[in-house]
Amino acid sequence: MTILVTGGAGFIGSNFVLDWLASSNESVINLDKLTYAGNLENLASLANDPRHIFAHGDICDRAFVDALIALHEPRAIVHFAAESHVDRSIHGPGEFVRTNVEGTFTLLEAARGYWSGLEGDARTGFRFLHVSTDEVYGSLGPNDAPFSEATPYAPNSPYSASKAASDHLVRAWHHTYGLPVLTTNCSNNYGAFQFPEKLIPLMIANALADKALPVYGDGRNVRDWLYVNDHCAAIREVLARGRLGETYNIGGWNEKTNLEIVHTVCALLDELAPGRTGPYSRLITYVKDRPGHDRRYAIDARKIERELGWRPAETFETGIRKTVAWYLANQKWVADVVSGEYQHWLERNYGERKSS
Ligand code: NAD
Ligand code: TYD
Repeated sequence: MTILVTGGAGFIGSNFVLDWLASSNESVINLDKLTYAGNLENLASLANDPRHIFAHGDICDRAFVDALIALHEPRAIVHFAAESHVDRSIHGPGEFVRTNVEGTFTLLEAARGYWSGLEGDARTGFRFLHVSTDEVYGSLGPNDAPFSEATPYAPNSPYSASKAASDHLVRAWHHTYGLPVLTTNCSNNYGAFQFPEKLIPLMIANALADKALPVYGDGRNVRDWLYVNDHCAAIREVLARGRLGETYNIGGWNEKTNLEIVHTVCALLDELAPGRTGPYSRLITYVKDRPGHDRRYAIDARKIERELGWRPAETFETGIRKTVAWYLANQKWVADVVSGEYQHWLERNYGERKSS
C-alpha cells in the first residue's frame, strides 16, 4: 500500500512525510514542483529510505499526474501542494490561481479518472484528502464566535480566495461524482522547516541577524496557532476515520496577537541565545500594514475532537520553545534558504513598508 502526497517538500508536507514514515510502514510518493518553498533538505533523513519516492513535477501537469498515479496505484492522495503566503499572493496572484485552483482541479480529475476504474475494496477504501486553511472563512470581530465548519466562506486575500475556490471544487467532486473526499481547514502552523517568510521563522531569523522585526499595522491582529506535528496527527486521524464529504476544522485553542507572538519569540531568544547589545524586543519595528489584513482568526475544533478524538498534544508554550530551539540548532538550514530569491522577496515586500 502507498499514499500520494503533494507538496511534501514544503513546510507542513515534509513534516507530514517524516511523521507518516515514523509511524507507519506504508510508502509515500511525494509529488512536488520544488518552488522556492520546496526543499529536499527537509527530507534528508530519508535519503536511504526506500519507502520515500520523490517525483519532481507540477500538479497542473495532467499527463504527469496520471502517469504517476497509474504507476504507483496509491490508496489515498493527501493534497498539500499550494502557493501559501498571503503577502506573495498580494504581489502576484496569478500563480495562486494556477496552482491552488487549476492544480487542485487537475488533481481531482486525475483522481476521479483513477478511482472510477477501481473495484471492490480498492474503490471503497480510496480517499482524497484536501488540506486547506481557516482563512477561507474571512475575518472575525473581537467578540465573534470562532469559525465552525458551518461558518460561511468569506475569503479576503488572493491566497484565501484561491484556497476557497479549491475547497469548493473538492466539495463539488464529491457531490457530483461521488469522489471520496475529506477536507481539513487548519489555523496558522508553526514548527520546524517553516520558510522564513512567515511570521515566526522570519522574526527568529531577523533577530539573530540583528535586523528589524517588522510588525504590520498595530500588531494586534489575532491568529490561532497550532504546532505542525499536531496538524500532521490530525490529518492522519481524518484520513483514517473521517466521514466522507465532511470538512474538519483543526486548531490549537491558542489565540494570540502578533505582538504577543513576537515578544514570546524575543524572550525565548534572550534566554537561549542572548544578544550582545540587549534584549531582542528592542528590534521590534512597526511597519505599514498588509492591504486587506484580516483582523482575527479563531477555530472551533470541537467537531474533530468529538468525532475522531483528536486534540493538540502541544501547548503554545511547549511548541514555541521547541520551534525556537530547532531554528537555533539548524541555522545552516536557514542560511541555505535565505540566499538568492529570498533576498529579492525581502526587497519587494519590506522595501515599500516604511517603519511607522
Ligand atoms: P509551503 O509553501 O511551505 O509548501 C508548499 C509546497 O508545495 C512546496 O514544497 C512547493 O514546492 C509545492 N508546490 C507549489 N506549487 C506546486 C505545484 N504546482 N505542483 C507541485 N508542488 C507544488 O506551504 P505549507 O505552509 O506547507 O502549506 C501546505 C498546505 O497547507 C497548503 O495547501 C496550505 O494552504 C495549507 N495550510 C497551511 C497553513 C500554514 O500555517 N502554513 C495553515 C493551514 C493550511
Ligand atoms: P503569516 O505568517 O504571513 O500568516 P497568515 O497571514 O497566513 O496568517 O502572518 C501571520 C501574522 O503576522 C499576520 O497577521 C501578518 C503578520 N506579519 C507581520 O506582522 N510581519 C511580518 O513580517 C509577517 C510575515 C507577518
